[in-house]
Amino acid sequence: MKFGFFDDEKKEYVITTPDTPLPWINYLGSQDFFSLISNTCGGYSFYKDAKLLRLTRYRYNNLPADSNGKYYYIKEGDVIWNPGTMPTRTPLDEYQCRHGLGYSRFHGIKNQLSADLLAFVPVDTPCEINVLTLKNQSASAKKLSLFSYVEFCLWNAVDDMTNFQRNLSIGEVEIQGSAIYHKTEYRERRNHYSFFSVNTPIDGFDTSRDEFLGVRRGNDRPLAVEQGKCTGSVASGWYPIASHQIDLVLAPGEEKELIFLLGYCENPQEEKWEAPNVIRKTTALAMQEKYHTSAQVKKAFQDLNHYWEDLLSRFFVNSQDPHVNRMANIWNQYQCMVTFNLSRSASYYESGTGRGMGFRDSCQDLLGFVHLVPERARERILDIAATQFEDGSAYHQYQPLTKKGNLDIGSGFNDDPLWLIAAASAYLKETGDFSILDEMVAFDCDTSKAQPFFQHLLRSFHYTCTHLGPHKLPLIGRADWNDCLNLNCFSSEPGEPFQTTGPSEGPVAESVFIAGMFVKYGREFQTICEKYGHTEEALQAKDAIDAMYQAVLTSGWDGDWFLRAYDATSQKIGSHECEEGQIFIEPQGFCVMAGIGVKEGLAEKALDSVKERLDTKYGIMVQQPAYTRYYLNLGEISSYPPGYKENAGIFCHNNPWISIGETMIGRGSRAFQIYKKTCPSYIENISQIHRTEPYIYSQMIAGKDAPRHGEAKNSWLTGTAAWTFVNLSQAILGIQPSYDGLCVDPCIPADFGDFTVTRRFRGAVYHLFISNPDHVEKGVKYLEIDGKQISGNLIPFEEGKKEYQVTIHMG
Ligand code: BGC
Ligand code: NOJ
Repeated sequence: MKFGFFDDEKKEYVITTPDTPLPWINYLGSQDFFSLISNTCGGYSFYKDAKLLRLTRYRYNNLPADSNGKYYYIKEGDVIWNPGTMPTRTPLDEYQCRHGLGYSRFHGIKNQLSADLLAFVPVDTPCEINVLTLKNQSASAKKLSLFSYVEFCLWNAVDDMTNFQRNLSIGEVEIQGSAIYHKTEYRERRNHYSFFSVNTPIDGFDTSRDEFLGVRRGNDRPLAVEQGKCTGSVASGWYPIASHQIDLVLAPGEEKELIFLLGYCENPQEEKWEAPNVIRKTTALAMQEKYHTSAQVKKAFQDLNHYWEDLLSRFFVNSQDPHVNRMANIWNQYQCMVTFNLSRSASYYESGTGRGMGFRDSCQDLLGFVHLVPERARERILDIAATQFEDGSAYHQYQPLTKKGNLDIGSGFNDDPLWLIAAASAYLKETGDFSILDEMVAFDCDTSKAQPFFQHLLRSFHYTCTHLGPHKLPLIGRADWNDCLNLNCFSSEPGEPFQTTGPSEGPVAESVFIAGMFVKYGREFQTICEKYGHTEEALQAKDAIDAMYQAVLTSGWDGDWFLRAYDATSQKIGSHECEEGQIFIEPQGFCVMAGIGVKEGLAEKALDSVKERLDTKYGIMVQQPAYTRYYLNLGEISSYPPGYKENAGIFCHNNPWISIGETMIGRGSRAFQIYKKTCPSYIENISQIHRTEPYIYSQMIAGKDAPRHGEAKNSWLTGTAAWTFVNLSQAILGIQPSYDGLCVDPCIPADFGDFTVTRRFRGAVYHLFISNPDHVEKGVKYLEIDGKQISGNLIPFEEGKKEYQVTIHMG
């Protein structure tokens, strides 16, 4: 069952009912100002940091769900309705929501009055623009009143939800013309404020929520709207809002366009203390002027469209499979951008108050983003590296606004350091810009400790070398990629909760997954050293990698698959000897991707075991058999009911690892089958089971042990976006950036057919035609570059050349 459809031409997903199984959302904003917006106009906005600079209020866990946002009430006679249906939930004669790239459109009709709303954040200005067009579709004149509504958040979203004794006295607003300014915090020497304005004279306003709503009412039934008249309230403390009243008379066929702006402003530090209670509005007024007319706003919207056209032109595939084209060319890349911008901080499942930018997460998100805006990837890599400690370990998370490591979470996830090498190597392969290695980068945000970025990579690498356990495998620390495999919390007493912030380093628990990572990214590091002229380091790295490879074969192989780990007492985890949790997906994926066991024939065996034991029709589960009880030596993983999350759920994030692994051994059909199982577009027609947005990936799908097998959770912010794009673009379609140029090495189903890819790479455009007359799954016979035949699969990079026409002959 579907609740909408893809409009590929417009690059939109069109939702045809407000009653989607869950709110289906979109993200507005590409740099600093962001809004989340659901298909019923719910959501909120923030500047840079969803915790510290939250502009509008949202209530997670609220009832009805998703009941705060930027709302427009239309009152015609006694009928009150909203274009996206919420919050009044008045049934509409027509409803549609179109989520597009950086914008959302809503279309509603009630009693022959249509309301079309376009919401977007311009590329270069910190504000959200809402264009509302009302049209009288009837044969007689219509008299109506429009009421806007946003509820301000008092900036720090955690304080906002907790510190009421203070908050309810600090709210301040100012009204000037059609602009309502929210200036809470300005008095206390913060230099920011926000405003909500409209480009037309208003007939009334409210800025106090309780006066607008009336006693014991929710935003589904505001008294002011019912009475058709705002009260003119000026908030003083309590709950500041912004509501404009605009009375309209529309002749038959007449339409009226209104432009609303929610803006974020920062004044220069020196100005702010002149008059603590009166804000300087220069920035705000400039913004209001910038987006005052229809033409200006149309232009801003076109700029946004061009911005996306340009980004998406960097990778474009034309294959015989419309799902592949749609996902690769539109939605997968779009989601990569969103995850790059937000890490795991703010979604409908991440409250924006807990987790800022993840070290591990951001490094992985980069893998799917670096081709889009390499300059921003570079900046991000250096930001992340600056939070690293001198010994190579890292804060697990940092706050986007301050860029400081998060002390509450701390460090101790022993996979973290190696992800920095993953990100750096992806950047170097994409750009060839080795100058990044010379950039001076702080340790623990302390610039006096700055070292060239290369040193950061070296220390990342060394961190694993110096943290090995009794089997010469890497110590796992608090956890590795699998946050819930807490093998060093063995000492907690029965009945005590597991320790998520527990001992930062366990005595002996070891991870085969990190071993795989070490081999994979260690090799990248070795190559970087070689290319950068650090021969000595390259040789040392090679020895350490060879030793790790052997350690995995000796102590990390279980007979038919790779072992997952050793716990704190050196008991095997993820072994056929275990009662439950006998086989895990992560080491199979990472060891095979690292090439471990490929020539020994173990890789194939491991992947066969995955297929036999972990596969379901909805994707590959994290492990099997699911843990049916809580295990002290395993921690959080066994706290989940079987089938959910890390306890045998299907993590969409690591399914691509297996798919990539399959391409390493040339099994294109199987790789593609894995790709399809979790691919949103392929499973759009089971939206009633899957439930989350059918245009983007979710973090997890319930595994076969769960009562709700197939149901997805935690949509949008997941490393799945990046890894799937890497899988599809590099492993399956085979377009691989490498240190020496672009490589092409597809691994596809035999019946996939020929395809073309346009790829922008290091300032040139590559027009690639992949021809597969013999229907092989893998193998490139030769290339034809601008008519010249070349053996191998590397397109040599020629300085200054702007276009390459290449035919790739598979066979
Ligand atoms: C959750 C895990 C989750 C991880 C990262 C843990 O606290 O329980 O399921 O994957 O944090 O969000
Ligand atoms: C979500 C986290 O953001 C990611 O870093 C982690 O690897 C997965 N959970 C698996 O536990």
